Amino acid sequence: MASKSKEWGRLPGYLLATLILSTVVLGKSPVEKSHSLSLVTMVPLLELERKLIDNLVNHAKALEEKLQTVRSQIPLMRSENEKGKLDAISYLSNPLNSFSLIRRLHQDWFQWRKFMEQPVGVSQMRNIDTWLEELPTKMDLWEACTGVVRIQRTYNLDLSDFIKGKINGKQYNSSMSCGDIFAVGHHLAKENRSAEAVQWLQEIPNRLQEEFLVVPKHLTVEEVEVLKLLAETHLKEEHYTKALVLLDNGLKIKPQDSTFLRLRRKTKNLLKKQPVPIPEKTKKKEVPVRDIYKLSCGGMIKKPSKLHCFYNFTTTAFLRLAPLKTEQIGLNPYVVLYHEVLSAREISMLINKAARNMKIATTYTVYPTKKNRGRTAKAYWFNKENNKLTRRITRRIQDMTGFDLTDSEELQVINYGIGGHYLTHSDYFNFASGNYTRKQTRQGAALGDRIATVLFYLTDVEQGGATVFVNVGYSIYPRAGTAIFWYNLNSDGNGDPLTKHAACPVIVGSKWVMTEWIRERRQIFIRPCLPSSKGTSPKS
Ligand SMILES: *[C@@H]1O[C@H](CO)[C@@H](O)[C@H](O)[C@H]1NC(C)=O
Ligand SMILES: *[C@@H]1O[C@H](CO)[C@@H](O)[C@H](O)[C@H]1NC(C)=O
Ligand SMILES: *[C@@H]1O[C@H](CO)[C@@H](O)[C@H](O)[C@H]1NC(C)=O
Ligand SMILES: *[C@@H]1O[C@H](CO)[C@@H](O)[C@H](O)[C@H]1NC(C)=O
Repeated sequence: MASKSKEWGRLPGYLLATLILSTVVLGKSPVEKSHSLSLVTMVPLLELERKLIDNLVNHAKALEEKLQTVRSQIPLMRSENEKGKLDAISYLSNPLNSFSLIRRLHQDWFQWRKFMEQPVGVSQMRNIDTWLEELPTKMDLWEACTGVVRIQRTYNLDLSDFIKGKINGKQYNSSMSCGDIFAVGHHLAKENRSAEAVQWLQEIPNRLQEEFLVVPKHLTVEEVEVLKLLAETHLKEEHYTKALVLLDNGLKIKPQDSTFLRLRRKTKNLLKKQPVPIPEKTKKKEVPVRDIYKLSCGGMIKKPSKLHCFYNFTTTAFLRLAPLKTEQIGLNPYVVLYHEVLSAREISMLINKAARNMKIATTYTVYPTKKNRGRTAKAYWFNKENNKLTRRITRRIQDMTGFDLTDSEELQVINYGIGGHYLTHSDYFNFASGNYTRKQTRQGAALGDRIATVLFYLTDVEQGGATVFVNVGYSIYPRAGTAIFWYNLNSDGNGDPLTKHAACPVIVGSKWVMTEWIRERRQIFIRPCLPSSKGTSPKS
């Protein structure tokens, strides 16, 4: 959970220039909201959707009014016409009838023509135009696709089950439409992840038949589009025979389609050049995933054995009155879990305040470069002296840790979005490494490195979202009101690589956490010596 300042320090100059440039350019375009990076900031989208539905209702009303006008006139016109046709001469011999016929035909049908021409529901179309800026952008869809793919890949979920809303054995009352699946498949194809694109896209054809009955034509995915993209991705994977079958199916639907014909010629040529087909299974390319991360998050690494739980009565007067329920997660590095350190009321106050003002919490790069998705969440920083609540929490952290928080960082409250995660990282800076700008080093010297971290969990997470210490196999599952604490530095004051950790992708749930990074400088008299890296339980 390294701060912005840390990451800016690592930024190469050219990137910095790009960032400044893109910030300037961005100033003019609609504000990127990055909806899918935080669930709480997606809530207004449901309200927007309600507005759009109401608008469509009004559109339907306008269409109905017009239709009603037409329908109501037809019987009258028809009955007059039939009256005349029964005995034409007798009918026309009445001048009122013959006059009216001339007038109707000269005037009324011209008016009908004009009436038919009048557009219906224009104001509702205009309404949509005014809301365009609020709709998620292409980038939002890109991020949402990335999140969904991350969930499925990291936890190695069965894709077909996932699409049907069965996640890790639990059936949810939701599923993906062909439009949803196609969007993900298309995204993967564009990202040149063709093996994965094939997996997603091939789920579509069977489902299309069912959807055909319920989804209107303008919203369905066209079968030919699926066949085309699937054939192209198979070609990239060198599955020529599979591609050929798909192209032939496509040509049955659209015999003259130039893309199908071109791709078919290409496939035939490729098949000729590859007389002995390589068995398609053996060619399967595993797309490299950050393995330790994937393994840790998937729970493949052995879970830590609980060392022991105890009440900590020591140090402060506060703790003697209200001992903390403490659970040791591990000794090297030293990580402890505190139970019930925040109340439900405190949590809801923190979340309510933060939710109104979340900002994207990416690290390495500023939006909207696609390069870095190491961290996907939005954050809000609380000044520790801001109000009674934050002062109380700050006091509690001091009681928990024995550290002086005067110069430590603000409290950062974070909410994750779709598949939100934070790749393996360490919290310490190692200012001495020379990896920082002069300004940051100066600041670092003033405050010191991040000696320790306290990470509060503000919510339970139904599936996923564990914190994993990837080098030592600790995994901690979020439980509302608990917090973990660890030391980031070795006894020599350098960063301890064993504290490298990650936030696994959230599968189901809205994950809220709050972090306090404690700086070294103020602790000089409190904790002059750090425990040796072999250390058992540290003593202040
Ligand atoms: C599942 O969702 C549908 C609407 O998508 C709803 O009509 C139905 O009642 C839901 N079923 C359950 C068990 O919640
Ligand atoms: C995918 O590959 C094409 C052709 O090799 C390349 O032009 C394109 O930039 C790649 N796209 C991405 C997102 O890597
Ligand atoms: C009890 O808490 C204090 C901080 O308040 C800490 O210094 C001490 O190490 C803790 N005791 C144990 C056994 O963890
Ligand atoms: C400095 O940064 C580089 C590149 O990020 C990294 O490989 C190296 O380990 C860092 N040095 C230290 C001492 O942290």
